[in-house]
Amino acid sequence: MSAWTADGAVPTAALSPAGDWWRHAVIYQVYPRSFADFNGDGFGDIAGLRGSLWYLQELGVDAIWITPWYASPLKDGGYDVADYRSIHPDLGTIEEAEALIAEANAVGIHTIVDVVPNHVSSAHEWFVEALAAAPGSPARSRFWFRPGRGTKGDIRPNDWVSEFRGDTWTRTAGPDGSPDEWYLHLFTPEQPDLNWAHPEVRAEHEAVLRFWFDRGVSGVRIDSAALLAKDEDLPELPVDPAAGSHPYVDRDDVHDVYRAWRTVADSYPDPKLLVGEVWLPDVARFAQYLRPDELHTAFNFDFMTRPWKACDLRESIETTLCCHRLVEAPPTWVLSNHDVTRPVTRYGRADTAFSFATRRFGTPSDLALGTRRARAAAMLIAALPGSLYIYQGDELGLPEVELPLEAIVDPMHFRSGGVDPGRDGCRVPLPWTSSGPSFGFSRGDAPAWLPQPAGWGDYAVASQRDDADSMLALYRWVLGVRRHEPALATDVVTWVDRGSSALSFHRGTPDTGQLECLVNFGPGPVPIPPEHQLLLSSQTIRNNQVEPDDAVWLRPPTSR
Ligand code: GLC
Repeated sequence: MSAWTADGAVPTAALSPAGDWWRHAVIYQVYPRSFADFNGDGFGDIAGLRGSLWYLQELGVDAIWITPWYASPLKDGGYDVADYRSIHPDLGTIEEAEALIAEANAVGIHTIVDVVPNHVSSAHEWFVEALAAAPGSPARSRFWFRPGRGTKGDIRPNDWVSEFRGDTWTRTAGPDGSPDEWYLHLFTPEQPDLNWAHPEVRAEHEAVLRFWFDRGVSGVRIDSAALLAKDEDLPELPVDPAAGSHPYVDRDDVHDVYRAWRTVADSYPDPKLLVGEVWLPDVARFAQYLRPDELHTAFNFDFMTRPWKACDLRESIETTLCCHRLVEAPPTWVLSNHDVTRPVTRYGRADTAFSFATRRFGTPSDLALGTRRARAAAMLIAALPGSLYIYQGDELGLPEVELPLEAIVDPMHFRSGGVDPGRDGCRVPLPWTSSGPSFGFSRGDAPAWLPQPAGWGDYAVASQRDDADSMLALYRWVLGVRRHEPALATDVVTWVDRGSSALSFHRGTPDTGQLECLVNFGPGPVPIPPEHQLLLSSQTIRNNQVEPDDAVWLRPPTSR
């Protein structure tokens, strides 16, 4: 059982201070289609989210990030946006979205919405107009239309490879049905890339930011943030491009976009947060997005993809802290999201690292071990300075689901030729009750839009709420202590040597009081150091020892 020895009660939520709340916020990622379904059609909806705010309050989060909820043909889970100013009818209406934002604000929960600037849906009015227009027309110049190579124009304009595998060009047909120009899509053909050198593309996105900021959202999450700027010659990929000169990844001119967005964000009296989805191996280049006049924060995928090993995670933490310090931005800590294999499954595998390239059906996992590690991981990241992201269902310890082939909808699966199971396995609707047709996900009898496996009810909110040993109870303790513990409000991290298989650090100063986080990655127990008071543990502590794959938060003697 987890322990909190202060007064025995979970500290309750308090309104996060206005100003810089995002510097140490806990942000809960909602995949609305899979969160809660109140209209009973088998798809999660805004009504379900509004009706479940109590749960997020009880959990103790500062903000929710809602993945795209806009009008969309759903060719990529809503990341194919047809209209930013309307809500997908399965999810609700713009009025319901406004009501949600207001109700969440009223209970101290900020709202962050997703913006997908690299591309739009092929059903977006701009692209429909572009297809109907002639080659070389202004309507086509908002995208990347090009003639094909070869005498018949039937060879695609270049050989760039899609982020989802496969090629990046689709050929269009002219008014008489004859083959015409090609257009670029770094993801699926239903997600044509926008031309960010076009002033209307820039102006429209700034208007979209204002549209949502004016409705009370506190920030935006920026999808594929490093991919927007392109070399207009669309050259083949150089073998070893110099930093900033890749034809479309992390080009230097992408930063102009975010400087302009920061000006929009800063024009509001309450701070509006810009969070980037920036996948870059070079931490120095990553940090450039976080300069004071650009994004406020970006997801720390380096930590998320590392294996469950003390040296790997320590190296990632040190590099992260160092590169963020240089630009005075707070780090973020992320264990998963809607694209990534669930932590309890990942950490129970032989290879505990995450990579899109190596996902395969049938990879075995020891879920008991993975769950144990995921509990320790939650305590580890919550003890670090900066902000924290929790993907819905991780607080319930949900495993990755291996779905039957006929249920899979993710284009990553299909574009891999069926080799990659895709990302649906982490998007299965949440279990709220231990029984019932959809385990309480839906208020109707319709089955959940992705099938929930047998045994899903064991993870239900209702089963875990009153179980002090549950993952949910641990998350509530962790977030409650994190919110109220002065040592965790500082930026100070001091490494402590507890042997090579343990990862251990102090937070805070003698003035604030200190807290030690100790995680045991080794095969044998690590003794709790003498005179340290146990505050919280990921498993029941016996014989004053931290067992393998467990974590503890301790009060060092000098701090009492
Ligand atoms: C981001 C999203 C992912 C989406 C892709 C294309 O990586 O997280 O879900 O498929 O962008 O928009």
